[in-house]
Amino acid sequence: MAETIPQAVARRRTFAIIAHPDAGKTTLTEKLLLFGGAIQLAGEVKAKKDKIQTRSDWMKIERERGISVVTSVMTFEYGDNVFNLLDTPGHEDFADDTYRTLSAVDFAVMVIDAAKGIEPRTLKLFEVCRMRDIPIVTFVNKMDRDARDTFEILDEIEQKLALDTAPMTWPIGQGKTFAGTYHLAENAVRRSDAEVERTKVNGPDSDKVVGLLPQNEQPHLIESLDLAREACRPFDLKSFREGHLTPVFFGSALRNYGVRDLIEALGAFGPSPRAQEADSRMVQATEPGMSAFVFKIQANMDPNHRDRIAFVRVCSGKLERGMKAKLVRTGKPMSLSAPQFFFARSRITADEAFAGDVVGIPNHGTLRIGDTLTEGENLLFRGVPNFAPEILRRVRLGDAMKAKKLKEALQQMAEEGVVQLFSPEDGSPAIVGVVGALQLDVLRERLNVEYTLPVDFEMSRFSICRWISAQDRIELQRFIDAHRGDIARDLDGDPVFLAPHAFGLNYEAERWTAIRFDAVKDYQ
Ligand code: G4P
Repeated sequence: MAETIPQAVARRRTFAIIAHPDAGKTTLTEKLLLFGGAIQLAGEVKAKKDKIQTRSDWMKIERERGISVVTSVMTFEYGDNVFNLLDTPGHEDFADDTYRTLSAVDFAVMVIDAAKGIEPRTLKLFEVCRMRDIPIVTFVNKMDRDARDTFEILDEIEQKLALDTAPMTWPIGQGKTFAGTYHLAENAVRRSDAEVERTKVNGPDSDKVVGLLPQNEQPHLIESLDLAREACRPFDLKSFREGHLTPVFFGSALRNYGVRDLIEALGAFGPSPRAQEADSRMVQATEPGMSAFVFKIQANMDPNHRDRIAFVRVCSGKLERGMKAKLVRTGKPMSLSAPQFFFARSRITADEAFAGDVVGIPNHGTLRIGDTLTEGENLLFRGVPNFAPEILRRVRLGDAMKAKKLKEALQQMAEEGVVQLFSPEDGSPAIVGVVGALQLDVLRERLNVEYTLPVDFEMSRFSICRWISAQDRIELQRFIDAHRGDIARDLDGDPVFLAPHAFGLNYEAERWTAIRFDAVKDYQ
């Protein structure tokens, strides 16, 4: 019998992994895919990552996306669950891409290096999750190396993230003697991920537990397990779902420890697709009407065609191949004739997809980041964020005859989210804005290769950009009129104020108290 919408939704788990570089995100991803049967051999994901070491390699790879092994989303099954793991770029220059991806997940797995603890990028990504109330599951990795004391790690998470912790498993030994994990609530041990089932034991002092360690380490293990069971907070589902508490797992992704504990827990209590907030109402995942939003656009998936894949997250109903959807921004219908699912190494036509699923929709520039698709209802999803760029440049074109072509190309790049584009009110050349310098390299390369437009970037006199708005439209217009030379419009026509430095921005903000200056704007 065909699966009903509520059944399909209940099985789905859509998440991302957040980590500081080197903590083990790639290795963990690979093990999750391996245990989920999505890849056959460990090393495939890593092999891809290793190739992307230098900038030029990165761009070549980017162009060769059509054959890449890792795509933006990886789907695998484990037990009864369907997991959608959304990939986030490792390099912080592409942070805005990561933030957009986080708008499409229901929870995140935070990977921490057991020796290094909470590192700067973990902290930053965690803050984005907190802003969106995304529940976090913690995986403390590299327990097979010299690690910090387990209580110390838990304490650091609590202190640095202001987040309650509930250890679910406890490491049996660490470093060279790391020998498995102890499940605190179940009183059961797993010596490695090769064991599909855990072994029930009577308690920490069972020989099946302490016997795994050299004699001199046994008293410490018994003591810390007793303390953990008495003093640590128990897991509380509500608190986890609300983002106040993180369940913590320990392991070694490289050496196959603790990954099964993690994946089973994601299935058992990871949230299924949540209700999504739209402008007019909350949309429940189990509603019959299809709705979805675009959170990422990938160009050049196939180098022979200038097609773009828009990645949409389905929010409700059933997305079926061949259905007609409404693109709410334009009000126009759009035929979803070839939606695709992505696996670790391949893509297949998606006949049907449910809330939580991520589907790639090939198109020639119809879809933009932030777009909403529905079966007819006029609703817009909010929350795919746009961050004020930190680098602003004017694009210098060698051949003035190609100005129109450049304008079109920049418009496309901006719709894909590669850069942000601002058109000054005074008619001067467009300004592009990026969060990280590497994005400029990608822009230059793509304009050159795809549009034969060799460009360079000039410093602009501005370094700060803020979206401006006001309750009183007359007041906003007065501000705009008084600052013509410093106002530009973004892709949607919304006004931004450009300032040469923070001092200039603060000066205006103090004088014009009725004007809001925002560093983040939701798409739409
Ligand atoms: P990332 O995606 O978060 O950047 O991390 P990645 O998985 O690439 O892991 C970074 C390094 O840490 C790799 O070593 C990887 O093998 C190692 N690693 C990952 N998980 C574990 C673990 O549980 N235990 C130990 N001991 N090491 C782990 P590398 O030296 O960069 O690469 P390689 O040549 O050793 O594979």
